[in-house]
Amino acid sequence: MTTNRQVKLAMRPQPGMLSRDVFAIEDAPVPEPAAGQFRVKVHYVSLDPAMRGWVSDAKSYVPPVGVGEVMRAYAAGIVDASQHPDFKAGDAVQGLLGVQQYALSKGSRVYKVDTGAAPLERWIGGLGMPGWTAYFGLLEVGQPKAGETVVVSAASGAVGSVVGQIAKIKGCRVVGIAGGAEKCRYVTQELGFDACLDYKAGELAQQLSLGCPKGIDVYFENVGGEMLEAVLPQMNLFGRIPVCGLISGYNATQSSPGPSLRPVLTHRLRMQGLIVFDWADRIPEAMFELGSWHKSGLLKIREDVREGGVDAFPETLNLLYTGGNFGKLVLKV
Ligand SMILES: NC(=O)c1ccc[n+]([C@@H]2O[C@H](COP(=O)([O-])OP(=O)(O)OC[C@H]3O[C@@H](n4cnc5c(N)ncnc54)[C@H](OP(=O)(O)O)[C@@H]3O)[C@@H](O)[C@H]2O)c1
Repeated sequence: MTTNRQVKLAMRPQPGMLSRDVFAIEDAPVPEPAAGQFRVKVHYVSLDPAMRGWVSDAKSYVPPVGVGEVMRAYAAGIVDASQHPDFKAGDAVQGLLGVQQYALSKGSRVYKVDTGAAPLERWIGGLGMPGWTAYFGLLEVGQPKAGETVVVSAASGAVGSVVGQIAKIKGCRVVGIAGGAEKCRYVTQELGFDACLDYKAGELAQQLSLGCPKGIDVYFENVGGEMLEAVLPQMNLFGRIPVCGLISGYNATQSSPGPSLRPVLTHRLRMQGLIVFDWADRIPEAMFELGSWHKSGLLKIREDVREGGVDAFPETLNLLYTGGNFGKLVLKV
């Protein structure tokens, strides 16, 4: 291979789903590593809901991707040339390597991964950033205690599926919320959640009160909007709400009326936002713990691997916002 096919941001998008012309797909020469650098042949690119925010110039926790820059993405691949003392050809790695076939790195926040323990793509899914988010968001912000009821939205997805399984490991009663019977069946039968509510079947508030007869102690929020509205009044005293994501609003073209936050007041709820990088220095700990649970069979992880190379990036990304993915969405390049 002599060219490096890349996806670049061509323009700032309008509100709504991303159209293909937001991105430009270009061929560049394969880069050569300089002293202190290594080159990764990318095999899998991670598609993450946050990408919708990364291409917008609204103020956020990270600067936006610049117009003309390679699209930011977690990716996993194999080092194929190195002038770096700690990385050698053949090492399997993961990190923020971008939507492209080859990436140069100096090693900052790039992690070596063990493909004997789990396949390469899993290290950008349940054992990668979404898994770290579940691990820190649930344990540090949610602080679940044995016997408590934990509810998690987007329960069949990359973050939600790991949140629920860690909550089970910690002895909680776990109720997922997901879209459709097939995802709900997976969440209960494969992942071992105690129950899963299909929000597309309607009457979510009623489903929640039947599914959580002792109320809700921890709600791990991945969706926002109407889901938060149904959950809030059913929170127990001193409940905790890790606010991890609000995917239902990422492509909104108009503002929607918000829920009443009165239960936050009357029940002295602690509702805390989180960004996975708040625990950047503890990522090796999360990788070790998640990897151990996975190896022993306590943590099941599912990927939804799509074909089509970097050219298929724009359409594949949009699957996240319609629920078209089932498991951690990954693009094979
Ligand atoms: N704070 C952080 O540091 C951090 C890090 C990583 C991810 N996150 C957040 O975590 C959440 C989950 O991310 P993920 O990577 O694990 O994605 P994912 O759950 O694997 O995929 C997204 C899922 O969201 C659900 N969804 C999409 N639009 C929806 C809507 N309008 N209403 C209800 N559900 C909707 C769909 O599932 P259904 O088919 O079940 O509806 C879809 O499959 C996102 O909000 C993301 O932004 C936050």
